[in-house]
Amino acid sequence: MSDALLEPFSVTIDFGTGALVPDPDVLARRLADLDGYFLADITDPEVGAYTVHEVRVPKTGNNLLSSTTVLEPGKVGDEYFFTKGHFHANRDRAEIYLTLSGEGVLVMALDDGRTVTKEMRPGVANYVPGHWAHRSVNTGTTPLVFYAVYIGDAGYDYATIAERGFPVIVVEGNDGPQVQPNPRYVTS
Ligand SMILES: [Fe+2]
Repeated sequence: MSDALLEPFSVTIDFGTGALVPDPDVLARRLADLDGYFLADITDPEVGAYTVHEVRVPKTGNNLLSSTTVLEPGKVGDEYFFTKGHFHANRDRAEIYLTLSGEGVLVMALDDGRTVTKEMRPGVANYVPGHWAHRSVNTGTTPLVFYAVYIGDAGYDYATIAERGFPVIVVEGNDGPQVQPNPRYVTS
C-alpha cells in the first residue's frame, strides 16, 4: 500500500462549513461521545459536538492525511465545547492546524504536564510538533472550522487523554475565555 502510485487530485473546502467536495468520510461526534470528559454532567447527550471530514488517502508514512473539523459552539457547565483530543499513536508525528473560520484555543500538552495554548482564528496556522497531545476548544459563538494536515501513519491515542485529561481546561470567565488548571488531571 505504501508504494501505491496515487493520481494527483484536488478537493474543494468550504471555509464556512468545513464541507469537502468530494466528502467521502465524515465522522460525527455527539456530546454523548464526550461523556466523562467535562467537569460538569452533560444534560443533552444528543447535541452534536463536532464533525470531521477526512480526505481519503492511504494512512502510510509517505502520505499526508488531511481533514476539516467543525466544532460547534456551546458549553458544558463553564467549559466550552472541545474535541476529545489525542496524542498520536506514533508519538513523534507532527501536525498543522489552519483555522478557516470561528475562534478558539488550541491546547497542547506533553506527557509530563507541560502545557501550551495557542489562539485559533482564521488565517492562523498552528504547528503541533510530535509528542504534544492536542485538543481544540471553541470559545466563540459560531462553529470553529479548521483544516488539519498530518503524517499518514500518525494514528490516534485517545485512551491516554480519556484516562488522564488535559492539564488545563478552558472556561468562560467574566472577561472572556480563561485557561485554568484542570482539577481532575491525572499526572503521569
Ligand atoms: Fe492529531
